[in-house]
Amino acid sequence: MYSSSGEPPTGDRTDMLAVRNGPVEIAPQLDGPLAVYGNLEIISGTGRVVSRAEAVRLCRCGHSNTKPFCDGSHSRVSFRSV
Ligand code: FES
Repeated sequence: MYSSSGEPPTGDRTDMLAVRNGPVEIAPQLDGPLAVYGNLEIISGTGRVVSRAEAVRLCRCGHSNTKPFCDGSHSRVSFRSV
């Protein structure tokens, strides 16, 4: 559930990663999200851990209802990345 604060909810995966550093790969998807791979901690603007994961898809169209994550809304709004 999202509130009007803009703060994303804490996700299901907030358990500590086995490794917290290392390389990060950011792969922009054509007309879609940023696919990000690595040992990732997604932190809200207030410093709260939203998710820890090894791979995420981050919204860059601005229309996701699950920001910062992509929910596929980029297709509905015909987002173009170029
Ligand atoms: S990039 Fe997929 S919902 Fe925004």
